[in-house]
Amino acid sequence: MRVLVSGGAGYIGSHTVLALIEAGHDVVVVDDFSNSKPTVVARLEALSGRHVPLHAIDLTDVDKTSHLFAVEEIDAVIHFAGFKAVGESVAKPLEYYRNNLDSTFSLVEAMRRHDVHRLVFSSSATVYGDKAPLPFHEDYADLSALSPYGRSKVMIEHVLSDVAAATPGQRTALLRYFNPVGAHPSGDLGEDPQGIPNNLMPFIAQVAVGRRERLSVFGNDYPTDDGTCERDYIHVMDLAAGHVAALEHLDDMAEPARAFNLGTGHGTSVMELFHAFERAVGRELPYEVVGRRPGDLPRMWADATRAREELGWEATRTVDEMCADTWYWQSRNPHGFPDGTRR
Ligand code: WQD
Repeated sequence: MRVLVSGGAGYIGSHTVLALIEAGHDVVVVDDFSNSKPTVVARLEALSGRHVPLHAIDLTDVDKTSHLFAVEEIDAVIHFAGFKAVGESVAKPLEYYRNNLDSTFSLVEAMRRHDVHRLVFSSSATVYGDKAPLPFHEDYADLSALSPYGRSKVMIEHVLSDVAAATPGQRTALLRYFNPVGAHPSGDLGEDPQGIPNNLMPFIAQVAVGRRERLSVFGNDYPTDDGTCERDYIHVMDLAAGHVAALEHLDDMAEPARAFNLGTGHGTSVMELFHAFERAVGRELPYEVVGRRPGDLPRMWADATRAREELGWEATRTVDEMCADTWYWQSRNPHGFPDGTRR
């Protein structure tokens, strides 16, 4: 299929573009580079050996988005594009709702206008909120979130489900990611957050490469085995494969819209991940325990049954592989992607 990947120059988007091409699909990337760099598309072309058409437009622009569908033959859409920093969303809620919701409305309207009825949406485990029983299951009905970012994901899931129910032939998969980490084994693609990393893995990687002095562990007094929070970390290569599996499942899906957890089903603590990274680097790394970060849940991990049974997909890569691939990427790209132009 010819797949439009919004946010295709981003962390998960770029790894998915490569997986789609390797699975025999054609890909068109649309990205406004608000949180990614054009260099990524050049690397995708080098890694895949294929030309990757790129449209550098803002998806909240309805006319430009519609024009994109007029000039490109699109069979399906994978929608990653969106602002995703939890803390920033608390400070800038209107920008987050405007960007994340408007870009989705614009995209879905263009799809309907051009009779494109296959959609995979990048959702998040954050939609389970802080009251869902573990392991988080897709049938949990009381979706909520603890930030404007998370609430934008809940709202978009409702919008896409309602639109799918009202649009004959529409098939929409809502993929709820747990904690994406890792990098392509080539070392040429990886997570490259702007500014100080909010997330654990990229922060540890920047400590290891000498860009940060030490890791601050946000609390070790949680009710867990070692006192630090446990999360379901999933390798971005597994996540990319999950998107290909979901895309290829859409035409066989009975329901117009359906949520799928993309996780391993296992929890790993902050210190377990930290020590796994030390093993990948081959030396001890500096850290200090500080106060808890507001809003953190002690434990989060997926019930991964539905994706395995219905998509025929499951995560296979280990925490050590996640750390080894992250370290290889970071050591080859100490300052992330260069700011160069695309071609
Ligand atoms: C993991 C653990 C921290 C940094 C977030 C978003 C979620 C999703 C994935 C988009 C926590 C601890 C972290 C640090 C630390 N993003 N930590 N020191 O919070 O589980 O999920 O990213 O969908 O929406 O909330 O991931 O990597 O930020 O934190 O101790 O410098 O690492 O307290 O326990 P989180 P995280």
